[in-house]
This record gives sequence, structure tokens and C-alpha cells, in this order.
Amino acid sequence: MTDERPLEPDRETMENIGGATLEFAADFIEQRATAPAAGVDENAWKLAQHLFVERPPEEGGDFDDLLGIVDDAAAGSFDTTGPGYMAFIPGGGLYSAAIASFLANVTNRFVNLAAPAPAMAAIEASVVAWMCESFGYGSGSQGVLSSGGSIANLSAIVTARTERLGESFSDGTIYVTEHTHGSVAKAAVIAGFPRAAFRTVACDARWRMRPDALEEAVKADRSAGRKPFLVVASAGTTNTGAVDPLREIAAVAAREGIWFHVDAAYGGFFHLTERGRRILSGIEVGDTITLDPHKGLFLPYGCGCLLARDGEALRRAHQVEAHYLQDLAVTRGIPNFTDYSPELSRDFRGLRVWLPLHLHGVAAFRRALDEKLDLARVVYEGLAADGRFDVWDPELSIVPFRLKDRDDAANRELLDRINASGRMFLSSTVVDARFMLRVCVLAHRTNRDRIDEAVEIIRGAASGL
Ligand SMILES: Cc1ncc(COP(=O)(O)O)c(C=O)c1O
Repeated sequence: MTDERPLEPDRETMENIGGATLEFAADFIEQRATAPAAGVDENAWKLAQHLFVERPPEEGGDFDDLLGIVDDAAAGSFDTTGPGYMAFIPGGGLYSAAIASFLANVTNRFVNLAAPAPAMAAIEASVVAWMCESFGYGSGSQGVLSSGGSIANLSAIVTARTERLGESFSDGTIYVTEHTHGSVAKAAVIAGFPRAAFRTVACDARWRMRPDALEEAVKADRSAGRKPFLVVASAGTTNTGAVDPLREIAAVAAREGIWFHVDAAYGGFFHLTERGRRILSGIEVGDTITLDPHKGLFLPYGCGCLLARDGEALRRAHQVEAHYLQDLAVTRGIPNFTDYSPELSRDFRGLRVWLPLHLHGVAAFRRALDEKLDLARVVYEGLAADGRFDVWDPELSIVPFRLKDRDDAANRELLDRINASGRMFLSSTVVDARFMLRVCVLAHRTNRDRIDEAVEIIRGAASGL
């Protein structure tokens, strides 16, 4: 029996399915302007149940049918790549990055060591070096691209643990605030710390870590026999976009001899703009910095980054010897990224960063990020002028707000009404034990027209509440 759908299709078939995919991609991107901001309805859940129980057929199917399923499944989702998506932290979805992923997957080179594909590994090394330089790190710094911010935070904690505590770390203590991203606590648990290792440092009225409270907590813990070794500052919290006072925290960390990690997964790339550089001043003093190109560089999910001012520290925390890799010793100065990260085989994330940066130029990213800062101000001013909201001046591009003098139920109702518009999608959180709505402007497709509409929708939704 002949194989009708061989694993290696002929050229005509490749061109047909490739062409259909590119057409799908162009249609999909064109439709974002009018698509619902979130399309999870009863049909989406029905499709989910159907696909969940379905199993692959013994003989292959039709590509167009399969593409149709992807289309339906993508439609029945939060539109994380759309202009109306202002919930959580918006995802990106640059077309050029999708093309880069395709090229990376077709060529499927091994990039986590230098020897198997030196020029490919160098492409990745060049964007990592660009990030190190952009954040003021000098020679000796190093970074790795991870699957996301969570794994970057994990590597940061393991690096801090290795450098400051060595192998006996049960008394190690980590300083965070109640607004620190949950991935930090998760990483600490995975890294072997008990939950008692955490100290929650008090915040000021704008939800930023208080350096004086940090210093006090460190001293108290030290006197009690614990080993303070790591403070994690946020350069843009997920809840409210608050930027902890990086310089002051760095000074406390230096005085106390503890590792200073900056979680800049959400806010870091605003550093490419002039305003962002001012707001994030002090980030360059961080021993390690978590970034998320799949947030701030508008890339598709699957690309985070950890930078380390002392690259050797990153290496000491991650490198192990393996005889089966002995043939790959030659590097000629190009990093063996596996020595700096938890991973060995992995996708070629560097191309997803490199191709968009080289194709569009860095200035295109600066302008887009600058625009997001402006748009967040438009939201703030629009809601502040209305008078019915408590709204907080954004430090970066997250605007927290809620109805003045109203309870959580009324604010929950406001969120439901806003999201029912289909033109924008917001998420909520709890701040100071109260329900809080938040607008997070970070999608590259969110522009002024959609923001003006969003302000009108929020104001309209508040009417009669
Ligand atoms: C401040 C912060 N840190 C870490 C993370 C985790 O990053 P990721 O979702 O890429 O794992 C996020 C995600 O939103 C974040 O906002």
C-alpha cells in the first residue's frame, strides 16, 4: 500500500500547505481589527471538549480540514494578539517572529552549544549581547533565552543560591513584596526552599517595596540566625505596574551582601525608551535581570530571558560535565548556552528575536513602546477626568482603577460589562484586599483609536452602576 501522506511531502504538497498557511496567517492578522477581544463562548468550550477526547487517526487527513480546526480553536479564545486585549500582560505576535519560528523549525539547528551550528548560535549570542549592553551590563556579562519569565526567575534564584549560600541553603531567606510575581515563589520552591524562606516586605502607598522595611527585615532575620541572600525587586508589577525603587534596593542589597534580582518580565523593555530608562533607573545595578521578549518585544509566547552581570555566576550555577558532549568542545568564543541554563535541546529562540530586530530595526520597537506609555496616560487621563473612578497614574503601561466608593460586587459588574463589549478585554486583581480592574497596554496592535474607544466603553459601562 502506498503512503498517501508521507512524512516527507513532495514539493507541490509542501508549496500547497505552505501557501494555505501563509494565506491563513494574512487573513488572521487582517481580522484582528474586527475580531472579538475574547471569543471564549459555549461553542469554544464544546469544541474544546470534542478535541480533548479525539485521538489521531491511523491514516492521515486533509490539511485544509486541520487548518480549519486551528482557525476555529483560535477564534474561540482570548484574542491575545488583538488590539482590544488589555488583560493580564498581553502577548505579542509579530508576523516577522512567526516567520522566524518557521525558519528555525525548518532548519532545526542545534543552538544550545556553539559547535553544531556556530553561526546560528552566534545569531542568538548577538541578541543576548545586545540586551546585556542595552541594560548597561559590561564585559563579563552573559544571558540566556528561556521559555519565559518564570524559568528566567528560576535560573536567577538558583544562581543567587549558588553564589551566596553554596550547597547548604536551608536557612536562606528571600525578600519580596505581596506584589512580586507568583513565578518567584514557585521558582524558590522548585529550587528547594521551604515556604518559610520568604519574607514579604512592606510597600509604600503606591505598592512599591520600602527599602527601609527591607533593611529592617534583613537585619532582624540575620540576628535570628537566618541567612538573608536574595531580594527580588519588580520593574513593573503584574498587578499595578509599580516599579520598586531599584537604586535604593540595590544600595540595601550591597550593604547587606545579598543578591539583587530584578524581575523586569513585564516592564523591562520600556528601558529602550527615554522615559522608560528614567523610570527603570538602577536596573543596571541588578545582579540578574529577568526580561520577557514575548511581552515587551511583542514576540509570540515562548521567549524569556535572564541576564547576569557576572556571566560566570550564571555558568557556575548551571554547568555540569557530560562525556557524550566531549566532541563539541570547540566554541571560539561563542557561548555554549546550555552551560548557562537548565536546558539542552530546545527551540531556536534567538532567531525569533534576531529577525524582527534586524528586519524592523530597534527604533521601531522604541517607538511602539513609547506609544504604549502614551496610550496608558490617555486611559489614565480619560478615567481621571470622568470623576467616577479611583484611578492611579501609570508608572509604565498598566492603569489600575475601580469605581469610587463602590464595593467589589459593583466593580465585578463593571468588568463584566466592559468585557461584554467584545471590543476590549480586561482582567482584574486584588489590591489592598479590594477588587481592582486594570488596563494593561502592551499589544503592538493596540493604537490610539482602540484606546479612545476603550475609555468610552469603560465610561459607558459605569453608567447606572
Ligand atoms: C512581572 C512578571 N514576572 C514573571 C512573569 C512570568 O513570566 P512568564 O509568563 O513568561 O513565565 C510575569 C508574567 O506575566 C510577570 O508579569
